[in-house]
Amino acid sequence: MQIKKITCIGAGYVGGPTMSVIAQKNPNVQVTVVDLNEARIAAWNDADLSKLPVYEPGLDGVVGEARGRNLFFSTDVDKAIHEADMIFISVNTPTKTYGKGKGQAADLKFIELCARQIAAVAKSDKIVVEKSTLPVRTAEALKSILDNTGNGVNFHILSNPEFLAEGTAVTDLHNPDRVLIGGEDADAIEALVQVYEAWVPRDRILTTNLWSSELSKLVANAFLAQRVSSINSISELCEVTGANVDEVSRAIGYDSRIGAKFLKASVGFGGSCFQKDILNLVYIARSYNLKAVADYWEQVIILNDHQKVRFAENIIKTLYNTVNGKNIAFLGWAFKKDTNDTRESAAIYVADHLLDEEANVIVYDPKVPAEQIYRDLDYLGTRSPEENRRLVKVVNDPYEALAGVHAVAILTEWEEFKSYDWEKIKETMKKPSFVFDGRKLLNRSKIEGLGYVYYAIGE
Ligand code: NAD
Ligand code: UGA
Repeated sequence: MQIKKITCIGAGYVGGPTMSVIAQKNPNVQVTVVDLNEARIAAWNDADLSKLPVYEPGLDGVVGEARGRNLFFSTDVDKAIHEADMIFISVNTPTKTYGKGKGQAADLKFIELCARQIAAVAKSDKIVVEKSTLPVRTAEALKSILDNTGNGVNFHILSNPEFLAEGTAVTDLHNPDRVLIGGEDADAIEALVQVYEAWVPRDRILTTNLWSSELSKLVANAFLAQRVSSINSISELCEVTGANVDEVSRAIGYDSRIGAKFLKASVGFGGSCFQKDILNLVYIARSYNLKAVADYWEQVIILNDHQKVRFAENIIKTLYNTVNGKNIAFLGWAFKKDTNDTRESAAIYVADHLLDEEANVIVYDPKVPAEQIYRDLDYLGTRSPEENRRLVKVVNDPYEALAGVHAVAILTEWEEFKSYDWEKIKETMKKPSFVFDGRKLLNRSKIEGLGYVYYAIGE
C-alpha cells in the first residue's frame, strides 16, 4: 500500500520537525500537521521562517523547501483526519498532575481524545501511528477505543517512537541511528517502512512487535539519562578526591564497550522527556509489583535532583553562606544549547533554590524570551508572580546581565558564552568575582588567569 496523504496531530517539537523532514524527503506524499493551538499553527505558517515556533538549526531550510508544496500546517483537525491514509499522533504525554499515578504515570488524556476524534471522523481505513512516547501496551487501549467508537472502518496501529534530540533534530532526522516500527500487520508496517526508505537505509529501519517498540522508547531514554546520572554521581566524588571528571569520562569512554558519548557531567539533565519517561517506567514497574526494578530506575531521578541542589548550595556556601540581596547572573536558561525549549531545565530549579534565599537573579539566554522564564518560575508555585518579577530580571544583552554581579552561573552550554570578553566582564563584577560553571564550558586556566574564582562541576 502506497501512502499518499499523511496527517500528524500535534505540531510541537516532535510533530513539526519530523513531519517537515518526511515531507521534504517524500515530495509525492501530502503531509498535513494539525494542532488545536492556533498561535502555534500561525507561527508554523509565518512567511518569516525565523518565527517558526520551534527553534532548531536547519529547520527553516527544510520547512522553506516543503511548505506549500506538500507540507501544510492547519487547525482543521477533522478535515485532515478525514483525508489521510496514515495518521501520526504526536501530542504531549506529560506526567499526571492529579489522581492515581500523580507525579509518575503518563497522562494519556490527549492521546485518548485524538483516538476518539479519529474514530468519530474516519470514514475509510486508516493506519494510526503512535509517535508520542507512550507506556507499554497503550496500543491496546487505542485499538479498543478506535474499534468500539468508530464507523466500522479498519484501523491498524503502529508504534513509531521518535529518537531525535532537541538542538540536533534536523540532523538526527536526516541521519537517524535507527527508525523503529512496531506493529502486527505486515502491510501497515511495510507502508510506513516505505515512507522512511525515501532517505533512511533499509538496514537501519528496525521492525518489532508493538510492545517491544513502545517499551524500547522508554528504555532508550532511561539508559541515556542513567549515563548522565552515573557520571554526575562521579562528579561529586571527583570534587572531594582531586580526580577530574572530564579525565575520568575520557578514560572510561575509550573503552569501546562503554563508549564516549553522553558522559558529560553537568548541573543535571533537563528536557521534557528524560524525567517524565523514567517516572513512567518506574510507575509501570511498580504497577507490576516489580519493586527492585522500580527502585533501580528511580535512583536516576533522585541523583539528578541531588545534582541541581548541590550546584545551588555550592553557590550559597561559596558566597559566604548568604546570597540575600546579592546579584547572580545566569548565563543560559534552556535545558541544553541550540534550543529555545526550557522544559524541566536545571536552570529553573537552581534559580528557585537561590530565590528562596532572596538572591537577585539576572538571566540572559540567547533564545529564551522573558515571558517564558517567568512562566517557568510561576509554574513552580514556590512564590507569587510578583515576587518572581521582583527578584528575577531578564535581559537581552549578556554584558548587561554580568555588570556589577557577585557571581556568574553557567546553566546552558551555549557556544557564544566562551567567546565573551571575560577580561572586560571581570572589571565590572564585584570582587572576588565568582564563576560557577555548570557545563564545564570555560577554560579554567584562562579564567583563573584573569583573576576569577572558578568552580566547575567535577573538578
Ligand atoms: P509539544 O507539547 O511540543 O507538542 C504537542 C502538541 O500537541 C501541542 O502543540 C498541543 O497543542 C497538541 N495537541 C495536544 N492535544 C491535541 C489534540 N487533541 N488535537 C490537536 N493537537 C493537540 O510536545 P512534543 O515535545 O512535540 O512531544 C510530543 C510527544 O513526543 C511526547 O510524547 C514526547 O514524549 C515525545 N517526544 C518528544 C521529544 C522531544 O524532543 N521533545 C523527542 C522524542 C519524543
Ligand atoms: C533526549 C534523547 O537524547 C532523545 O533520543 C529522545 O528522543 C528525547 O530525549 C526525547 O524522548 O525527548 P533531548 O532531551 O532533546 O533528547 O536532549 P539530550 O541531548 O538527550 O539532553 C538531555 C539533557 O541531558 C540535557 O539537559 C543535556 O544537557 C543533558 N546531558 C546530555 C548531560 O548533562 N550530559 C550529557 O553527556 C548528555
